[in-house]
Amino acid sequence: MSNQRAKLVVGNWKMHGRLAVNAVLLEGVVRGAQALPQDVRVAVCVPHPYLAQAQALLGGSRVAWGAQDVSVHEQGAYTGEVAAGMVADFDATYAIVGHSERRAYHGESSEVVAAKAQRALEAGVTPIVCVGETLEERESGATGQVVGAQLDAVLAVLSADEAARIVVAYEPVWAIGTGRSASSEQAQEVHAFLRARLAAKGAQVANVPLLYGGSVKPENAADLFRQADIDGGLIGGASLKAGDFLAICAAAAAGADIAG
Ligand code: 13P
Repeated sequence: MSNQRAKLVVGNWKMHGRLAVNAVLLEGVVRGAQALPQDVRVAVCVPHPYLAQAQALLGGSRVAWGAQDVSVHEQGAYTGEVAAGMVADFDATYAIVGHSERRAYHGESSEVVAAKAQRALEAGVTPIVCVGETLEERESGATGQVVGAQLDAVLAVLSADEAARIVVAYEPVWAIGTGRSASSEQAQEVHAFLRARLAAKGAQVANVPLLYGGSVKPENAADLFRQADIDGGLIGGASLKAGDFLAICAAAAAGADIAG
């Protein structure tokens, strides 16, 4: 049974793209998105230098854009960092925070991720807060403990009203870029757990979009998106091909689960 919340599909380009290929990809996504039912929201999170390009090519279309990270600081002597306010200057709707690649390669703790979510909200940018367990953590039965602690760290620094304005993405580390997606049942189980944690923060927090990420493809998207607590996807590799990304967006449309 699918739920009544509108679906959201977000592409995470990671560190891919150049001006010329981006233009082809963005134009393809804009064109294809016109045919999507209105109940599907679509966005792409691009590397910081391409925010201006996304703004220029997506402005006025139904495809929103965002960044893949923001600094914990508002401004200052932090060479190489990009502030949430700078991202907001380019009309970014979203900023991913706490992606597992940042946690793993840049040592980001859940407290750092929480501060980034705060900076995004202050700048009027919706943070997409990523949580997820490693394979070892899953196999040792620690999935709930790990993702629960990652989410709680963010909820702890937000008011209920602020928490109601975030997006959460469950991305099991073992499913990212491996071609091995979580099964729909595995994903739904964790999403239901996260939903309960959100609901405990306040009634208005219970319905924040909960995205699944990790090897989502046109072939498995409809089955994932029909789960009761899966409100869409955070798409890596497949977001770099307009056709695949649009097929995943189409799978999120109401009724796609009946056809699929
Ligand atoms: P893949 O879709 O390439 O597995 O990546 C998922 C992801 O990390 C999105 O943020």
